[in-house]
Order: sequence, then structure tokens, then C-alpha cells
Amino acid sequence: MPPASGAHARHEATDSCATCHGAGYSATTVNGGTHGNGQRDTAPAIGWNAGTQSCANACHGSTPWTPTATFTCTSCHGAPPATGGHTKHNTRLACSSCHGAGFSATTAGATHRNGVKEVIASVGWNATSQTCANACHGSGAWSTSATLSCTSCHGVPPTSGEHREHRSRACSVCHGPGYTSTTVNAATHNNGIREMATSSGWAPSTRSCANSCHGKEKW
Ligand code: HEC
Ligand code: HEC
Ligand code: HEC
Ligand code: HEC
Ligand code: HEC
Repeated sequence: MPPASGAHARHEATDSCATCHGAGYSATTVNGGTHGNGQRDTAPAIGWNAGTQSCANACHGSTPWTPTATFTCTSCHGAPPATGGHTKHNTRLACSSCHGAGFSATTAGATHRNGVKEVIASVGWNATSQTCANACHGSGAWSTSATLSCTSCHGVPPTSGEHREHRSRACSVCHGPGYTSTTVNAATHNNGIREMATSSGWAPSTRSCANSCHGKEKW
């Protein structure tokens, strides 16, 4: 209860008898209308094919009914899924950044498949409004189309270093082609590296520049 046959044991923790056998079935009750009728009744939703002993269902696609059938991470959902802001974050953030320890594109943590979509507290996730309120860029809607303004993540220009003294200069003078106060070079922006044009003579170790504007200066 359930029987040891097929993949019963593998489903016991997450699915009720009714999910696969239809309404009325549980570990202690049966559907009097179909039980003991000489047929092994399954719910249409699981797409059971008695001939091939496999199902074709919404849970994880077609799978053989055996205790040894294996799944890939993408049998049940994308890794990452195409939902919300996954695609937008995937090049920068690991699954664990939002879903917590143990999660990666190829490994699942201890809380996986418990019926709850785990998101760690620091993301500030609000499942009702489908938004986060976090340290990365403040509040944001979890959607494929949400856009952030330039000042969502940093000032334009930031208050750091000597930005203020140089505000009459275009961003591109120091950061290279493509950067203005309203546009970025998509190929290098937000890649974890603060891009500086070679002509600025920027030396990260001394945090100074050596250029044709005014010689060597501390930032
Ligand atoms: C994930 C889907 C699934 C769940 C959950 C499930 N079953 Fe099954 N069950 C099946 C399939 C598929 C068969 C095989 C049907 C066939 O051979 O035509 C089956 C067959 C059976 C049989 C017939 C004997 C046998 O071993 O084939 C019994 C009895 C049974 N299930 C009882 C249960 C009970 C009791 C529960 C809940 C505690 C349960 N099942 C939960 C899918 C499921
Ligand atoms: C920027 C944060 C973030 C990152 C990075 C992230 N996720 Fe998610 N993920 C979420 C949020 C938010 C949800 C929606 C939670 C909810 O609906 O309650 C979610 C939901 C999911 C779900 C549940 C199904 C769905 O589409 O809602 C799966 C599966 C999932 N993520 C897998 C992954 C995998 C695999 C990775 C890494 C390759 C990953 N996620 C990276 C934030 C993230
Ligand atoms: C049998 C189906 C199935 C397979 C296989 C599967 N997942 Fe999931 N996964 C789910 C479901 C369902 C959820 C939704 C949340 C829940 O129920 O815990 C989920 C949620 C997630 C989440 C969001 C965090 C969470 O637990 O809520 C991540 C990340 C994830 N899966 C990664 C993976 C990775 C990596 C693999 C491969 C090692 C994998 N999944 C294989 C069904 C599956
Ligand atoms: C005079 C040169 C100069 C100009 C002009 C300039 N920056 Fe910078 N910027 C720098 C330097 C130097 C750094 C520090 C690089 C480092 O830490 O490696 C920097 C860093 C940054 C950073 C990274 C975060 C930080 O505070 O360090 C951002 C964002 C940034 N600049 C945006 C802008 C924008 C937007 C403009 C135009 C409105 C602009 N900058 C104009 C020199 C300049
Ligand atoms: C999602 C957060 C985010 C948004 C939105 C954002 N930036 Fe940035 N920006 C960063 C980060 C983080 C850096 C630090 C360097 C890096 O990671 O590439 C940066 C760096 C920069 C730099 C320094 C050059 C570089 O790439 O290192 C400039 C200039 C800049 N941003 C301008 C802009 C402008 C203009 C906009 C709006 C069109 C904008 N940013 C929107 C996160 C963001």
C-alpha cells in the first residue's frame, strides 16, 4: 500500500493514489464504481499506455513505469526554466544565488520537489506580487519583459571616485565606445568587470590614471 510494482515507491512521497488512479482512491479508500472491476484503472491525465507500460503526462513527459527509469533535469522543467526573469539572470547568477545551497543547473538541493518553489530570503521574493526587493538592483518585477532604469543599479554617473569632477565628460571617454548616460555597450556591460578605455591609462592596482588630459591622477 502502495504495491511494490513499477514506480510506485518513487512517487509515494509526492503523489496521492488519486493523482494516478482517479477520484476516490487513497491509501484507505477506493472508488466503489471502478475498484475490483478486473481492470487496473488509471486517471486519463497520466496518459497511461498499458501496452508500452509507460505514461505520457504533464509531470515530466513520457517515462517507462519502472523503479529504475531515470530523468534528466530537463525532463520536468527547463534548467533554467524560460519563466520570469530566468533568462535575464542566467549569465550572471548561479541557481544557488536565488534558490539556495545545493541548487545548480545539474544538482538539486534537499528542498527540491517538496511542492514549494524555494527562493532564499535575501532575494526578498514576494510570490503574490511576483516581485523581488533585493540588494542587486532594488525592487524588480519577475517577468521576461521587465526593464530596469540605469539608476536601478548605480548612479549615472555614480557618486564614487572622481565622477563628480568629470561630469562634463562623456562616459565613453573613460569607459569606451557605446557608453553614454542612457546607453551601454551590451557586450561588456554588467559582466563583472569595470571596463575602462585603454586611453584613460587606468591602473586598477594603484587606482590611478595616466592620460593625456592631465597626466597621472589618483581616482
Ligand atoms: C504515479 C502514478 C501512481 C500513483 C501515485 C499510484 N499508482 Fe498504483 N499504479 C500506477 C500504474 C501506472 C499502475 C499499473 C497499471 C497497469 O499495469 O495497467 C498501477 C497499479 C496499481 C495496482 C494494481 C497492481 C499492480 O501492482 O499493478 C494497485 C493495487 C495500485 N496501483 C494501488 C495504488 C495505491 C494504493 C496507491 C496510493 C497509495 C497508488 N497505487 C498510487 C500508477 C500509480
Ligand atoms: C535571479 C534569481 C533566480 C535565479 C538565478 C534562478 N531562479 Fe529559478 N526561480 C526564481 C524565482 C523568483 C522563481 C519563482 C518562484 C515562485 O513562483 O514562487 C523561480 C522558479 C523556478 C522553478 C519553478 C518553476 C517555475 O518556472 O517557476 C524552477 C524549476 C527553477 N526556478 C529553476 C532554476 C534553475 C535550474 C536555475 C539555475 C540554472 C534558476 N532557477 C535560477 C529565481 C531565480
Ligand atoms: C520529476 C520531476 C523533476 C525533475 C526530474 C527535476 N525537477 Fe527540479 N523541480 C521540480 C518541481 C515540481 C519543482 C517545483 C518546486 C517543488 O515542487 O519543490 C522543481 C523546482 C526546482 C528548482 C527551484 C527550487 C525549488 O526546489 O523550488 C530548481 C533550482 C530545480 N528544480 C532544479 C533541478 C535540477 C538541477 C534537476 C536535475 C538534477 C531537477 N530540478 C530535476 C521537478 C523536477
Ligand atoms: C574621467 C573618467 C570617467 C568618466 C568620464 C566616467 N567614469 Fe565611470 N568610472 C571611472 C573609473 C576610474 C571607475 C572605477 C573603475 C574601477 O574601480 O576599476 C569608474 C567606475 C564606474 C562604475 C562602476 C561602479 C563604481 O562606482 O565604481 C560605473 C557604474 C560607472 N563608472 C558609470 C559611469 C557613467 C554612467 C558615466 C557617464 C555618465 C561615467 N561612469 C563616466 C571613470 C570614469
Ligand atoms: C541590473 C543592474 C544594472 C543596470 C540596470 C545598469 N547597470 Fe551599468 N553597471 C552595472 C554593474 C554591476 C556595473 C559594474 C561593472 C560590470 O559588472 O560590468 C556597471 C557598469 C557600468 C558602467 C561602467 C563600464 C562597465 O561596463 O564596467 C557604465 C558606464 C554603466 N554601467 C552605465 C549604465 C547605463 C547608461 C545604464 C542604463 C542604460 C546602466 N548602466 C544600467 C549594473 C547595471
